[in-house]
Amino acid sequence: MDPKERIEELRRQINYHNYRYYAADDPAIPDGQYDLLFNELVRLESELPHLITPDSPTQRVGAPPLEKFSTITHTIPMLSLENAFDPQEVVEFDARIKRYLKDDSPVEYVMEPKMDGLAIELVYDHGRLVTGSTRGDGQTGEDISLNVKTIKTVPLTLLDDALMPIPAKLEVRGEVFMAGQAFKELNRTRLEAGETPFANPRNAAAGSLRQLDSRITASRPLECFFYGLGEVIGRTFETHWEILQTIPRWGLRTNPLARRSSGIEGVLSSIAWIESERDRLPYDIDGLVVKVNSLELQARLGVKSRSPRWAAAYKFKPTQALTRVKEIHVQVGRTGALTPVAILEPVNVGGVTVSRATLHNADEIEKKDVRVGDTVLVQRAGDVIPEVVMVVGDERTGAEQAFVMPGQCPVCGSRVVRPEGEAVTRCLNIDCPAKVKESIKHFVSRRAMDIDGLGDKIIDRLVDLGLVTRPSDLYFLKPGDLSRLDRFAEKSEANALASIDRSRRVTLDRLLFALGIRFVGEHLSKVLAREFGSIARIRAASKEFLETIDEIGPQSAGSVVDFFSSEENNREVDRLLDAGVTVLDSPQPVDRAALLEGKSFLFTGGLPTMSREEAKKLVDELGGRVVSAVSKKTDYVVAGADPGSKLTKARELGLTILDEKQFLSLVQPDNRTD
Ligand code: IVH
Repeated sequence: MDPKERIEELRRQINYHNYRYYAADDPAIPDGQYDLLFNELVRLESELPHLITPDSPTQRVGAPPLEKFSTITHTIPMLSLENAFDPQEVVEFDARIKRYLKDDSPVEYVMEPKMDGLAIELVYDHGRLVTGSTRGDGQTGEDISLNVKTIKTVPLTLLDDALMPIPAKLEVRGEVFMAGQAFKELNRTRLEAGETPFANPRNAAAGSLRQLDSRITASRPLECFFYGLGEVIGRTFETHWEILQTIPRWGLRTNPLARRSSGIEGVLSSIAWIESERDRLPYDIDGLVVKVNSLELQARLGVKSRSPRWAAAYKFKPTQALTRVKEIHVQVGRTGALTPVAILEPVNVGGVTVSRATLHNADEIEKKDVRVGDTVLVQRAGDVIPEVVMVVGDERTGAEQAFVMPGQCPVCGSRVVRPEGEAVTRCLNIDCPAKVKESIKHFVSRRAMDIDGLGDKIIDRLVDLGLVTRPSDLYFLKPGDLSRLDRFAEKSEANALASIDRSRRVTLDRLLFALGIRFVGEHLSKVLAREFGSIARIRAASKEFLETIDEIGPQSAGSVVDFFSSEENNREVDRLLDAGVTVLDSPQPVDRAALLEGKSFLFTGGLPTMSREEAKKLVDELGGRVVSAVSKKTDYVVAGADPGSKLTKARELGLTILDEKQFLSLVQPDNRTD
């Protein structure tokens, strides 16, 4: 074959496979085979450099640096969005639209995650990428064509679909972002190279995209989701949903989490859903964008000042904030690990006041160079402990004080050690009151022995007074012991003692977890319980035998054996058994057929992974009842996408509303994650 033809053939194939891999998320060939095609193209192009074209898939490596960016004026201005900070404001947005349209019928909306990155516009001329620009002031942005061409999810040429021919001109808009994992990796290498880390994935994406040297951009793991159009010549659309369904066929990736709903109810459940999914997504989002689906209605609604009337952004509360480090304390944990904790000027982060943040260990403090007096960026996500992300260096006055890890345990004064190659410094004194207190707190916690009425302060007092020195001592507490403590009423004492008593009957996995064996968390405790069935068998197991069990690696196996080779630990386990702690026979078989007896379920809207029929069958098999009208007596309302007026009614009645996941955990108790 003529090399020119072969080059064109290779480009065509590579473009197609890029589309399958990046836009359709459905690769058609193994990576190795793709590499062969790509390498062949690289080789041919290096032999015949005059045949290299700017839209060749090999040209994502960047070009020599620019002096400065030139500007590009957007044909149609890139607008911003009006924000809504709580669901009520979204309801008002819907009401405004209906008033404006003088029509009270439900409006169809499209909901998309609001990507936390930065907006770009690409211009395709007969399917060829000609320019890429930033949003800038909305009218004029910077010409970042060389940079966008290095992003793998930006097609250099659009895919011509026979059923969906590409328009003569297409301006497409999207958000460039960096996924969380890639961001962490980038920051890790930056720290290692002595460079300042980026504060968050958004800054990393912005810093990477606005590089005069596009070769740097090429080395950064940027991605893009497309969510809208500018000027289009040669094709018309009727709805936004149609746009989202069409552009991926040309190779432009859209966010698969976009949803459509008729009426505001579905928008509200999307908000609830996305809030609950947020922490599990591989990238940062900062809200949900709600758009009127019909383009005709969009045109009628029009634009006011700088934002359209037909769209709004429901914004989450921010997860990062700036504050000052007042002190650095050292906490001693259950395993004796010394953890430095920043004591902060209290600051509101996403609706919660944060006054402490973990600094993990001495290495982390050194890497981030956190000092007392520093202004720092703190972050919290979900229920995880807030952490210090970075220091704002230019706020330094020189009066800040560096942190030194103490040579002694701040609680018991014993010597601490930091083993070679480990990041953690530990107190080795087994009687250290901090370790004792923390291990008792762990023992009573909900996922372990589940003892109520013994809060952290009470446990601290019990240990300080010498009433309790190890978990088993709890079972020997007598009436009067607790009421001796300040502010401990007799009634609460009776409740706490009853709860301690109840905890004597326990499943093996909980007991194992409560013992606090290193590397044996909740999950491995379940595995061990299932495999061995009794504490005696686990005690007798060898490391080799433990390692034959799926999911148990050398580290956890070693730790189990170490734990049970300590005389002290064995004595404590014996004391627990002597105190009447009894392991219930294997997990109580649940009477499946009666699980939902007497409970009524109402389904509204489409469930993401199962059909209505399947869901109903499940309820039926488990003895529950499916109803079709909402009433005060309905026990559960299971709502999916586009739920409609039944959900509104259910909310008004204050009924329990479940999503599919919650429904499944109700009917499949084995999967329950609480
Ligand atoms: S639509 C008029 N959709 O949010 C519509 N924007 O405040 C304009 N963004 O500049 C944008 N995800 O950077 C739209 N799915 C999405 C988005 C999104 C993120 C950003 C975009 C825009 C800003 C508007």
